[in-house]
Amino acid sequence: MFPIELAGVGFRPDGQCVLSGIDLQLDGDGISILLGPNGVGKTVLLRMIAGLQPVSEGRLTWGAASRPDEAVAMVFQQPMILRASVLDNAALGMKPLAFGRRERRRRAHEMLERVGLADRAADSARLLSGGERQRLALARAWAVQPRLLLLDEPTASLDPSAVDAVEDIIRGIRTDGCKVLMTTHNLGQATRLADDVIFLADGRVQEHAPARQFFARPRSNAARRFIQAELPWRIRFDE
Ligand SMILES: Nc1ncnc2c1ncn2[C@@H]1O[C@H](COP(=O)(O)OP(=O)(O)OP(=O)(O)O)[C@@H](O)[C@H]1O
Ligand SMILES: [Mg+2]
Repeated sequence: MFPIELAGVGFRPDGQCVLSGIDLQLDGDGISILLGPNGVGKTVLLRMIAGLQPVSEGRLTWGAASRPDEAVAMVFQQPMILRASVLDNAALGMKPLAFGRRERRRRAHEMLERVGLADRAADSARLLSGGERQRLALARAWAVQPRLLLLDEPTASLDPSAVDAVEDIIRGIRTDGCKVLMTTHNLGQATRLADDVIFLADGRVQEHAPARQFFARPRSNAARRFIQAELPWRIRFDE
């Protein structure tokens, strides 16, 4: 399924230009983090790469294929939680797979253990807090053993210890050999997790660089301004 390649991908709903000329190549390992201001098109891009949103302009290919041919999972910022038990919610994504009910439940349990929710398995999922819901959504996504996991702001509005817990889970998913592509507005998180950073602004990929390089020496003025504006303190970049 890799490299995933985007060439000249655009998105112009109702005549407005959101994305234009997106060129990007994603390899099959590590954590790539997509950064950019509100409304720049990060969620749209994740949905396209997940195969959930058709590409009407440009070309998007997964390996040589025109569709993803391995398992892809996406976790949305507000994960869908069914009125059912935590265990049933964790097992939800496996329904289309060829596992029997017993195997689905066994795996769902294993994943709940990994995200620290095993003792809540029988509870109603509606009772979970925001951070617990995110961990449940990650367990559900991880249970399908995806080759590619897309995470849209997985820790927005979580407290620092919940953020830590979710970041540990994401590292575990990477260690399992799953490619992760995620968005975040938390630059600290981006420095902690990213192997590489993709920076979007004005409808284009302005930079795609190893994380260390991006944060130490952003090439574009747009990236410098973005980093300076997002941090709670002011930093200067050496010219
Ligand atoms: N189906 C659609 N029809 C029309 N406009 C859309 C559609 N989907 C997204 N948009 C618009 O595209 C723009 C980019 O949206 P997107 O949700 O990708 O932004 P984002 O980068 O994820 O922002 P944020 O950081 O706030 O999550 C927005 O202006 C949004 O209103
Ligand atoms: Mg978004």
